[in-house]
This record gives sequence, structure tokens and C-alpha cells, in this order.
Amino acid sequence: MLTEKIESLLGEVAGLQAADEKELESLRLKYLSKKGIVNELMGEFRNVAPEQKREIGMKLNTLKTALQDKFNELKQAVAVKEDDHASLDLTRTPYPTPLGTRHPLSIVKNEIIDIFSRLGFSMADGPEVEDDWHVFSSMNFAEDHPARDMQDTFFVEQHPDIVLRTHTSSVQSRVMEHAEPPIRVICPGRVYRNEAISARAHCFFHQVEGLYIDKDVSFTDLKQVLLTFAREMFGADTKIRLRPSYFPFTEPSAEMDISCNICGGKGCSFCKHTGWVEILGCGMVDPNVLDANGIDSKVYKGYAFGMGVERITNLKYQVKDLRLFSENDVRFLDEFMAAN
Ligand code: PHE
Repeated sequence: MLTEKIESLLGEVAGLQAADEKELESLRLKYLSKKGIVNELMGEFRNVAPEQKREIGMKLNTLKTALQDKFNELKQAVAVKEDDHASLDLTRTPYPTPLGTRHPLSIVKNEIIDIFSRLGFSMADGPEVEDDWHVFSSMNFAEDHPARDMQDTFFVEQHPDIVLRTHTSSVQSRVMEHAEPPIRVICPGRVYRNEAISARAHCFFHQVEGLYIDKDVSFTDLKQVLLTFAREMFGADTKIRLRPSYFPFTEPSAEMDISCNICGGKGCSFCKHTGWVEILGCGMVDPNVLDANGIDSKVYKGYAFGMGVERITNLKYQVKDLRLFSENDVRFLDEFMAAN
């Protein structure tokens, strides 16, 4: 009895058809669902005499697989049909949809990150709304340092202790608090300074700062890393020079110039005929900064550097007006399509 049922069903399988999802679902219900025919036969199978179990069991399995295969085949056919409808959307534009471009600052920031990752630096992140400690005090700014002045720093109203970070050194401070040396991080991010907006200044811009702390870190290490960076970023012929400078958090401190990448160092209007353009600040981490952030300055030394992403982007792409970076004019952004 059961054998005949199975065989007649097997004969039906090849002829099964489904024109759409609805018909497909009724096929599934009829044959393959919990209350479907296959399960019903499984029930009957329990009463089969033991000596017939093997033969009938195999037949039942063949039927089940055949039904499942047929169902999958029909399902695919139905899906393709429905797809056909979608591809016949006559309201769609005949032109390819233009893709957006990455913002020039992101392109350059990613390039900076790439170079330092290859040199073994990892990334660190921190809040843009910060407390005075992480932005200034932990970085060895004296109580009366002009950077704390209303003219440079945005304060949060009624919270004199909370500021918009003026540099990403605050992230370095947060890293030092928690990490054990050796520390080797870069901190990319947006920073804010209370400046009148013009072609050359903006109230926010972007930085990538770097920090390396270990037992034997020297100024030579710093110089080598920065030379490598300059050559990777601006080309193998790039030269660097360091000029003495001052930052509260580094001692000694320096500012770094690269040979003008536009005239190759010969002198042009871009480098004001000096052959050099400034790109970043750097120095050996002041021992006061290490101690303030819980790192023993008798054991460890470090170097730090910081650069403006807008500045590097200007040098690479000769963007003359800083305001272009934040106006989001697509005519400007589209110019970077090829650099993406
Ligand atoms: N924090 C400095 C700035 O914002 C940059 C800097 C970082 C300089 C580290 C030296 C060392 O101008």
C-alpha cells in the first residue's frame, strides 16, 4: 500500500509547477509542511513490518529528496521571474548613478594613518568636549597660559572646566592614563579654536598627533620617523629641517619644515621664496607630562608630534581657502574623484 503511494507520488514530482510565490507556498504546504503528505507517509512508515522497513524507507527518502529538489528548483525560477519585473523599471535613469567622493581631508587623513600604521603606530580616539585637565593641565600648561584664554578656547557656558579640545593631545593624555609603555599611538580628530573664520583660519580643523613612549627614546628616533613620514607623504626626494620652538608639553621642542613640494626647494611664491614650508610641531615629551599622566619619567622617555590635516592637504592639493573644506560644495569635492 505504502509502496504504491510513494511510487505514484514519485511519478508526480517531475510535473509539479508553480507560477508565483503563492503557488509555490501551496505546494510546500501540500507536500513538505508539518501536515503535508511526506510527513503523513512518515507516520504510516512506523507501522511497516520490520523486514520491509529498509526497502520502503529508502523509497520514502528518495521521494522526500526529489520533492525538496523540485521545490528549490521552482523557488529559483519564481525568484528570477520576480527579478525580471524589477529590471524592467522604465522610470529609472538611463545614465549611471554617480558615486560620491571621499572628502579631501578624509583622503589625506587616511593616508597619514596608513603611513604611521606601517611604522607600528596604533590609533586612539577621545571626546571632542573635554575637561581642562586632559586638554591643558595634564599637558603642562601653566595656570595663566594664553591658550586657556577666552580668545583661543571655546568654553562650555557655566562650566569653566569643560572646553572644546584645542588639540588632540588630550587623547594622548587619556592613553597615558591607562596604558603601560611602550606606547605608540596616533590620535586623529577634530579640534576647535576660537578664531575668526577666513581663508587662512577656521574655528575648527583636524589634527593627527603622535606619541611614542618607551625606555630608550631619543630625538634621533623622532627625526627618523618624521623623515620617513615626509618622504612617504610628499615623495622620496623630500628633505626636512627642524627649527627650535616651544610647546608646554615638549622639551626640547621643534617645528618641522619640508622642502617645498611645489618648487622642489628652489623657491616660489607658495614657500615665499624660502624653499621650505612648515608642516608640524614636535619634541621630546616633557617629564612633567609623563609624571602628571602616571608614567615614571625616571624610567621612560617619549616623543610627540602633531600636524594639521588641512595644512598637509593644502600642500598636497594646493587648496588656497580653508573654508572650502567645510562648505561641502560638490564642485570642489568632485575635484578629488581621482584621488579616492
Ligand atoms: N598640540 C600641538 C598643537 O596643537 C601640536 C604638537 C603636538 C606639538 C605634539 C608638539 C608635540 O599645536
